[in-house]
Amino acid sequence: MKIIKVKNVEESAQKALEIYQNVLNNGARVLGLATGSTPIPLYQKFADSSLDFSNLISINLDEYLGLDGQDKQSYRYFMTENLFQYKPFKYSYVPDGKSGNYEVATKNYDQIIDDNPIDLQLLGIGRNGHIGFNEPGTSFKSTTHIVDLTQSTIDANARFFEKKSDVPTKAISMGIASVMSAKKILLIATGESKAEAIAAMVNGPVTESVPASILQQHSDVTIIIDEAAASKL
Ligand code: F6R
Repeated sequence: MKIIKVKNVEESAQKALEIYQNVLNNGARVLGLATGSTPIPLYQKFADSSLDFSNLISINLDEYLGLDGQDKQSYRYFMTENLFQYKPFKYSYVPDGKSGNYEVATKNYDQIIDDNPIDLQLLGIGRNGHIGFNEPGTSFKSTTHIVDLTQSTIDANARFFEKKSDVPTKAISMGIASVMSAKKILLIATGESKAEAIAAMVNGPVTESVPASILQQHSDVTIIIDEAAASKL
């Protein structure tokens, strides 16, 4: 793991932007993307940059179950609001949260990933060490699947909803094996609330209880962390 320590959120986004500039100059064509608070400063930098994504494909990590792309809380909507409206891709895949048949939806998503191997997968990390919506206990062999969100994740995501009872309790997520299939991985973590998860990911044992710990076994992972997220290393 290559760890880049930065002072603050602004610097984390700047460093990440530089990594994207480099990877795109070297011919990357498929970007794995994430939602949540962490990547927003980077997406703002993308929007303000001269980077052109119009020949690229994006593949998002996850989506809430039961929300379609018009729903303001959906991750498809989040991506449109924060990135796609400014920087359209040739094609942008987000898991289908409203599919009537989740067996088909998960298989289709795996096929999309197989057909479009991810050059650079962007990740945030949950306070409990989740990546994508792969909660503690998820098999390292998992591909796209339906997930029961843990209470800790529901609580953390409640800030985006009017009422906690509005937060979906299930999601469709790329699996851990799908994430690990990316050629390169970039994980960004900022803030004190991520410090414990970062310490467990970097220095703890590789265990399914800490999904992000599997990244120790990927050959090309970069972690960008600010001082607060690095405080327990
Ligand atoms: C989002 C995702 C999640 C988040 C994680 C951190 O697509 O897959 O794993 O990256 O929950 O969320 P934030 O950045 O809001 O702290």
